[in-house]
Amino acid sequence: MNLEETNILLIGFMGTGKTTVSKELAKKTQMPEIDMDRYIVEYENMSIADIFSQKGEPYFRNLETECLKKILKTKNQIISCGGGVAMKEENVTHMKEGGVTILLSATPETVYERVKDNSERPILNGNMNVEYISGLMNARKPKYEAAADLVIDTDGKKVSDIADEIIKKIQEFGKKVEK
Ligand code: S3P
Repeated sequence: MNLEETNILLIGFMGTGKTTVSKELAKKTQMPEIDMDRYIVEYENMSIADIFSQKGEPYFRNLETECLKKILKTKNQIISCGGGVAMKEENVTHMKEGGVTILLSATPETVYERVKDNSERPILNGNMNVEYISGLMNARKPKYEAAADLVIDTDGKKVSDIADEIIKKIQEFGKKVEK
């Protein structure tokens, strides 16, 4: 698959490593990296937490769709999507048209360890525990899987190895698509 003609979209639950892995992928592939949350913060000139508290979640979800469409107008990018992006069918349609979607997975325990000291995720505010994370992850799982072209488990793996695995799987996926 010619990476210059597509986008690589990383999807998955909060704390599955989308941002970290996309930075590593960008280094290895020399493709530019776009973090959707960061893009939205700059676009709106407000933190994610402030958008949620001052404008509400539906407003944030509309912003996500608007920004996703803008980002996907360009090809040859690594796009790290916010954890809720794959929950909306309209977004998934755009993602499928605009690139290859890679679902990163991790256990609720791993996610908890990665996100527990961060208060920048409104969805987990007041619910920062393994039980809540596990419940929400299970509820979201069917939509994540439906949106994914490829799935990569991240538990106990080095970031560099995850990036290599993604590149290899994309090449294999490309061969299947091109047949
Ligand atoms: C969200 C995930 C966050 C961010 C927002 C909502 C979600 O992104 O977009 O707080 O609904 O899962 P990360 O997955 O990058 O933390």
